[in-house]
Amino acid sequence: MDSESSAAPSLTPVKVGICGLGTVGSGTFNVLIRNAEDIARRAGRPIVVEQVGARRDNPDCDTSSVNVTRDIFEVARNPDVDVVVELIGGYDIARQLVLEAIEHGKHVVTANKALIAVHGNEIFDAAAKKGVIVAFEAAVAGGIPIIKTLREGLGANRIQWVAGIINGTGNFILTHMRDDGRSFDDVLAEAQALGYAEADPTFDVEGIDAAHKLTILASIAFGVPLQFDLAYTEGLRKITAEDVEQADRLGYIIKHLGIARRTDEGVELRVHPTLIAKSRLLANVHGVANAVEVMGDAIGRSLYYGPGAGDEATASAVIADILDVARDTATDPRYRTPYLAFRGIDQGRRELPILPISKVVSAYYLRLNAVDRPGVLARIARILADLDISIEKLVQREAGHEGSASLIILTHRAVEENMDAAIAQLEALDDVEGSIMRIRVEGSDD
Ligand code: HSE
Repeated sequence: MDSESSAAPSLTPVKVGICGLGTVGSGTFNVLIRNAEDIARRAGRPIVVEQVGARRDNPDCDTSSVNVTRDIFEVARNPDVDVVVELIGGYDIARQLVLEAIEHGKHVVTANKALIAVHGNEIFDAAAKKGVIVAFEAAVAGGIPIIKTLREGLGANRIQWVAGIINGTGNFILTHMRDDGRSFDDVLAEAQALGYAEADPTFDVEGIDAAHKLTILASIAFGVPLQFDLAYTEGLRKITAEDVEQADRLGYIIKHLGIARRTDEGVELRVHPTLIAKSRLLANVHGVANAVEVMGDAIGRSLYYGPGAGDEATASAVIADILDVARDTATDPRYRTPYLAFRGIDQGRRELPILPISKVVSAYYLRLNAVDRPGVLARIARILADLDISIEKLVQREAGHEGSASLIILTHRAVEENMDAAIAQLEALDDVEGSIMRIRVEGSDD
């Protein structure tokens, strides 16, 4: 009988230390225990929880048979722990913990997108020096194996763009506001109760969490260093019920989208509310679900869909990483999959800069209130034309008060700095009342 057909794994167990027993920590603990037998058969050896480090117990998991410490750094130093699983979240303490674990020769698995997006370059350098693995599948899009897909499954491709709904909380809020007419704050409170939201939910609604994830995806897709500080973010709160309704009439759904696109000038890295044509699968991703669409030169378009947050969905990705560590630990580090998919990633910084938002090219939705009198449309069209912005569609509706009209303008693709200039000129017109709502648009062919 060869070793693959042996049902009982006989190699040394992999000993895991879990730091953090919140939503994802308890989910990871419970799934590791519940599915221990199948996981061991997949790893070829048992995976056991050697120690848990947590400030407090979690009633959702029974850790009575495990060594529990209140000092997470004890886990990083524990000579019996092979893999430190960092599930505490946040930047600073997580960074210290992971660097200390690496210093002690531990492999690391983390679900912490903020940590990887902001401190990843430093962490991977330290890990490379020690020859240890740092795996972070759970950091992006919850349970969807998008890191492995981009890094390994699509390794033959030159990736052209990645576009994703990568914040479950934001998508949950948009879905329930649109479908059930519920208020923003009411749905956000539910997302928090369900364990989807970040400790600071402004990270979800302002696009920071999605920008962390997009930063990681862009590095893996294009071979550029992690550059979170250059990501453009725009939050969800500006979206009004009227925009949702107008978008719907025009054949679009508003989603909070992260887009990373390779252009001849550099990489677009942006998170913002976006009108997406209803014919796109991405427009039909609802609730806490995430989806990432990838365009590669060989594969064409492909879409990856699944739960973007939640205890066991995220645990699924954490444990997949532990399995990879169990299999790869004996491989010479030079032959392991690179942390961010490419070797020699510093070269990328010079060749492919991150573009400022002013240089991004996009189609736009504009909504403005204008005085209803002769020549207004002509003046508006003139400003747009002079800035090389072409109108695709214009809809005029009665505004809330007499003598005023609400104009919805969809434009073809234009350079953002031209649109900035156009909006400034339009807002300065006597004909235009108040400020103009601008939302970027992804059509059916983008
Ligand atoms: N707060 C995050 C979300 C959790 O809602 O997507 C998963 O990263």
